Amino acid sequence: MTDWTWEYEGYDPAEEPLREALCTLGNGYFATRGAAPETGAGPPHYPGTYAAGCYNRLVSTVAGREVENEDMVNLPDWLPLRFRALPPDDGPPGPWWTPDAHPPLEHHQVLDLRAGTLTRRLRLDTPQGPLAVEQCRLVHMGDPHLAALRTTFTAESGPMRLEAESALDGTVVNAGVARYRDLEGRHLTDVRTGEDSADPGTVWLTCRTSASGIGVALAARTRADAPGGAARTDLSGGRAARRLSFALRPGVPVTVEKTVALFTSRDPAIGDPCGAACQRAGTAAGFEDLLASHGRAWRHLWDRAELDVPGKAGRILRLHLFHVLQTLSPHTAELDAGVPARGLHGEAYRGHVFWDELFVLPYLNLHFPEISRALLTYRHRRLPAACRAAREAGRKGAMYPWQSGSDGREETQTLHLNPRSGRWLPDSSCLQRHVGSAVAYNVWRYAQATGDLGFLHTKGAETLLNIARFWADSAEYDPGEERYRIRGVVGPDEYHEAYPDAAAPGLDDNAYTNVTAAWVLARAVELSRTLPAPRKAHLFEDLALEEAELERWEDVSRRLRVPFHDGVISQFEGYGALAELDWEGYRARYGDIRRLDRILEAEGDTVNRYQASKQADVLMLGFLFPPRELAALFARLGYRLDDGLWRRTVDHYLPRTSHGSTLSGLVHGWLLARERRPEAWTHVEEALTGDVADVQGGTTPEGIHLGAMAGTLDLVQRGLTGLEFRDGTLHLDPAPLPQLCEYGFSVRFREFWGIGVRVTAGALDVSLPSTANAPLRVGLHDRTVTVAPGETARLALPR
Ligand code: BGC
Repeated sequence: MTDWTWEYEGYDPAEEPLREALCTLGNGYFATRGAAPETGAGPPHYPGTYAAGCYNRLVSTVAGREVENEDMVNLPDWLPLRFRALPPDDGPPGPWWTPDAHPPLEHHQVLDLRAGTLTRRLRLDTPQGPLAVEQCRLVHMGDPHLAALRTTFTAESGPMRLEAESALDGTVVNAGVARYRDLEGRHLTDVRTGEDSADPGTVWLTCRTSASGIGVALAARTRADAPGGAARTDLSGGRAARRLSFALRPGVPVTVEKTVALFTSRDPAIGDPCGAACQRAGTAAGFEDLLASHGRAWRHLWDRAELDVPGKAGRILRLHLFHVLQTLSPHTAELDAGVPARGLHGEAYRGHVFWDELFVLPYLNLHFPEISRALLTYRHRRLPAACRAAREAGRKGAMYPWQSGSDGREETQTLHLNPRSGRWLPDSSCLQRHVGSAVAYNVWRYAQATGDLGFLHTKGAETLLNIARFWADSAEYDPGEERYRIRGVVGPDEYHEAYPDAAAPGLDDNAYTNVTAAWVLARAVELSRTLPAPRKAHLFEDLALEEAELERWEDVSRRLRVPFHDGVISQFEGYGALAELDWEGYRARYGDIRRLDRILEAEGDTVNRYQASKQADVLMLGFLFPPRELAALFARLGYRLDDGLWRRTVDHYLPRTSHGSTLSGLVHGWLLARERRPEAWTHVEEALTGDVADVQGGTTPEGIHLGAMAGTLDLVQRGLTGLEFRDGTLHLDPAPLPQLCEYGFSVRFREFWGIGVRVTAGALDVSLPSTANAPLRVGLHDRTVTVAPGETARLALPR
């Protein structure tokens, strides 16, 4: 194990699903789980391949009802490479080897983050003696359409003959999540196979997604360096396979190289996907050269995302960065794709896009702003759909969907299964209208970090103003309260969807929703007033926006209601009247109560009755806004938010939260670290180990948690340093954790590339590369220093 590798010793079928997710390789265009190439799908193996933004819709019947779901499609499997020993006497071959039928003598797996490769080393017993197999794979970070798998066989003690089959498998379905197995999963149709006439060693497979009609093509070139070997093609059963047989002499390795190209009909600059795939696979360089160009592409990414955190935390953070970059890379910036909550690593949440980008873009803004811009453009392209949704709900402006997929309509399931009770239940989580504020927040923070006014004044403004308009129109004036109220929503805490015994779902005045809506409205007014005159005239004309409407926005932004009870901010109106849960009793009875909602439902109760949250809700406000900004936001709303009120609010919700989302540990860790509370580390640790230790009990095998992964990177970058760019100055206000107090990273801010920040005990170093064009102002508390290009400024930290 090094700082750059994750290694797994031995073969353990029970561990495979988690390893497959954590060893996924991808390049932002597509990704493939780290499954064994010789087994195909079947428990415990699930070799999924997913392309960013490639969705399909199917109708299923569950609980006597027809439901329609859109899924990120599991594409044909390019991994298959199986082998078997051939008997010396030309008799019938034995079965293909699998680790389940014949456990290997040795099995070692290495995920190399620097090189972007997954390597397996095995030794197996065969009737002709031990066979060593070394397998290395990559999903190319330079050419997003390429993947390659090199397998080297070495007979250790005696001669043997082997047959290897390298295939493309079009028989796959979406079946990666047990809870969804009652749902339709056959997304691929019209599977065709063939051999490239220009290169008979290259086979291809094409198909199409059944409803979205996306054409998918893969081509595989397979070559062995075995003199005198034989080869044939088998195109039966929805697979395109190449079979090679060859002799092995003891100690002389034979290498089989499989090079695969994947294209879809959504790709630019191609004639047809099949032609493009055959051409790309047929002309690709050999494995060694691909490895070199792939390594170079990765090096360039790592250079833009330098992160140096010592110890276990550092290793995990690097793994998080690796998976963030495999899901969202500069190649993603060329696509029409959003932030899939579970990466391209599995089928949980069907590859949908939630508010999780709120935890991802702040990190990307400071390293890969072109990716942030593309992800915001995904939202802008779906602005008409969001406006349509608002109209259908009788509202103005844009109502973004809680779950988004291909065309921007609401993709949240209407029924979900509680695996504990076996019941299909109505799902009202789509009432999380706060997702719109997340989109607006990201537009604003992106523009602040990059200075990209070209975006802010065009697509950014269109998006933000329409979201503001939705909020202003959703706010009802309550003359009794002399305040505006937003009713019938669900906040970030998904446990509360309705008032106990209410006939309809939805809650009133969710504090998070109202405060963020107020913030969006205030930013929309500010932006409208600062737009360059001609642009403002055009935009106002296009949106039919008039000063009178801006005045209403201003008014609503100052008078939205925030409920309080017992001296704390209420999560929503009426929260204080809910029952207290017997937390200790439930912990004693069930141990892990993260999914308290499922436990209570299975008992015939409902979590709606209790002061019990799944994740940070009110406290999200302290995550999004530094204390100064949050206090100002409350003051603008006519409320006084002082340290005492905030502390009491934190103390109220902390013991009443079950942390049933990986985002919860992150947000609590961030908040408590900034408040220098000793419990912070427990939450940070939970966020760090969420995926590597599969803390949510079996969810990581279904896909990594991208929001928490990116969020932990941002925790080190902004959370623990207080890093903020304000008034052209880099402000810092470190709150190092005793367990994480020495680390360094670099960020990009506007025209400054490679600003180095290093925190050590008692000091903070900020450096600028000599290539910088101008000096940088750095503020620490009440001091400001100027760092010249090529220099490092050391600032002492108060003890
Ligand atoms: C969380 C949501 C999150 C979603 C996707 C849920 O468990 O409660 O906040 O957006 O997962 O990651």
